[in-house]
Amino acid sequence: MCGIVGILGTQPVADDLVDALKRLEYRGYDSAGISTVENGVLGRLRAKGKLKNLQKRLNEAPLQGHAGIGHTRWATHGAPNESNAHPHMTDKVAVVHNGIIENFKALRDKLESEGAHFESDTDTEVIVHLISEELASGRAPEQAVHGVLAQLEGAFAIAVIFGGHDDLMIGARRGSPLAIGYGEDQMYLGSDAIALAPFTDRVSYMEDGDWVILTRSSATILDEGGQEVERKITKSFASAMLVDKGNHRHFMAKEIHQQPEVIAHTLGYYVDLTKNIVKIPDFDIDFKTLPRITISACGTAYYAGLVAKYWFERYARLPVEIDVASEMRYREAPMEPGGLALFISQSGETADTLATLRYCREQKQHVAAVVNVKESTIARESDAVLPTLAGPEIGVASTKAFTCQLTVLACLAIKAGRERGHISKDEEVELVTQLVELPRHISSVLKNEHLFEKIAHGLAHKRDVLYLGRGSSYPIALEGALKLKEISYIHAEGYAAGELKHGPIALIDEDVPVVVVAPKDDLFEKTVSNMQEVAARGGQIILLTDDQEAAENFNAASSFVVPKAHSFTNPLLFAVPVQLLAYHTAVFMGTDVDQPRNLAKSVTVE
Ligand code: M6R
Repeated sequence: MCGIVGILGTQPVADDLVDALKRLEYRGYDSAGISTVENGVLGRLRAKGKLKNLQKRLNEAPLQGHAGIGHTRWATHGAPNESNAHPHMTDKVAVVHNGIIENFKALRDKLESEGAHFESDTDTEVIVHLISEELASGRAPEQAVHGVLAQLEGAFAIAVIFGGHDDLMIGARRGSPLAIGYGEDQMYLGSDAIALAPFTDRVSYMEDGDWVILTRSSATILDEGGQEVERKITKSFASAMLVDKGNHRHFMAKEIHQQPEVIAHTLGYYVDLTKNIVKIPDFDIDFKTLPRITISACGTAYYAGLVAKYWFERYARLPVEIDVASEMRYREAPMEPGGLALFISQSGETADTLATLRYCREQKQHVAAVVNVKESTIARESDAVLPTLAGPEIGVASTKAFTCQLTVLACLAIKAGRERGHISKDEEVELVTQLVELPRHISSVLKNEHLFEKIAHGLAHKRDVLYLGRGSSYPIALEGALKLKEISYIHAEGYAAGELKHGPIALIDEDVPVVVVAPKDDLFEKTVSNMQEVAARGGQIILLTDDQEAAENFNAASSFVVPKAHSFTNPLLFAVPVQLLAYHTAVFMGTDVDQPRNLAKSVTVE
């Protein structure tokens, strides 16, 4: 997936395009490029790697056009090099594209057999040649694009400018998001409203199949059949400020340290702090009669859902089915009408999660979403939105969004437990009080952050690391392993501690550190037995616990003790040490912590 932007301005637009691309870098950062049209002539600059490389090229050879498009890429078809960087163009047309053209191979074969010369390995370039062909046969740009859209299969958003047309831009959306920004005698297109925030807060969101013809003074939105349609212009609340790192070396460090504050904010929204009871605004699901919850999400958000499964089942006796969205969307799972389908997503744009949401809607489920970006597609397509108040998360590795998701889900599980009669009023107050204590406990973990620098030395340069946990600590083991692999590039796997003996134990030797997430709860002794099995085979244990005595008595290579809390809130508390462990290992290894290789913050392709 990629970020796209387009501007029809009254001054040279190159700098504004780059500014917008900075806000879209979370969608990809393999390469970037812009194209402008100046006195009818298309110009282009592209560069491999981060935006700063493009910026350097622009400083050396500025583009002066008042109309332009820009792109920041996460490679799908073709290596992340300059020739595959967008925009792709001929002298007639320049195109930026987010998404995948599924039938590109057939289209490319046909175009090549007709004499087209391709310069890249991308699927995008077929759009350029198809539009150029249409233009060459005498069609107007609007007709040309409409004709080509009908030939494309897949999910995509595009922005197109044309040689010979200084006041024209066309955008189209099928599957991938695209917003229109309305300025004073200026018009904009962007993958999201955040990209457009410095220029305008008047935004409309295109719907699937829509395409738009923009001039500086008009926006004509049409549906797939070419009929004009109305899309509401709304006020965007996306901030024009670029978020900075503060005093931290990385966004990830800043975001880890923001957790006490943002969890407290989130609690302020979901808890009546005068009575320590849960209040969930705008959420009218009747948990008493609800037959089941189906949860779906991807990556870290999925692990938040997995913790919630333990909570809903244990504290509300409510059956939960959970699956990663990339599987669930194709499983054709039968669903009893009237169930609750709950989606969790930081960005609210993850393609697999969105597709699963649409499937569940077809299956007549109530759709609710825990999202961090309130204006996102997932939020807009849900019946009920449960916002996390984490603020913008810039680091690709999700940290504060995860713990805020857990905070919301914990409140929801308490509400479900209360309504279903499995949590008494006093128990509700006790559980909420424990949640309210969390920011203080997390702050105390953060005060001891320096201890992780030493522990991280033990992990750095290892080839494999295992993470173990039982019960609601199991998803935290999975999350710990994901965090470590995505930012340090060390191979790591999370396992349910009891599964160790069913295979993974074969991996254990003195070179495989095993991180054990082991709060002293009702499953602690079982986990200790698994640690013994590891120790007996020479494995090096890194113990994360809340029991000082256990940490001293168990012969671990290293250990970290978090404050004693309630077993209900432990997944939130233990999330922080696994984040710090991954962060310090990555820093020690010198990787690109905030923008690790091959990843993007928001995955809007399958
Ligand atoms: O925006 P989403 O929460 O839907 O994203 C889901 C995953 O792509 C995301 O959590 C990913 O696994 C993170 N990089 C993990 O740190």
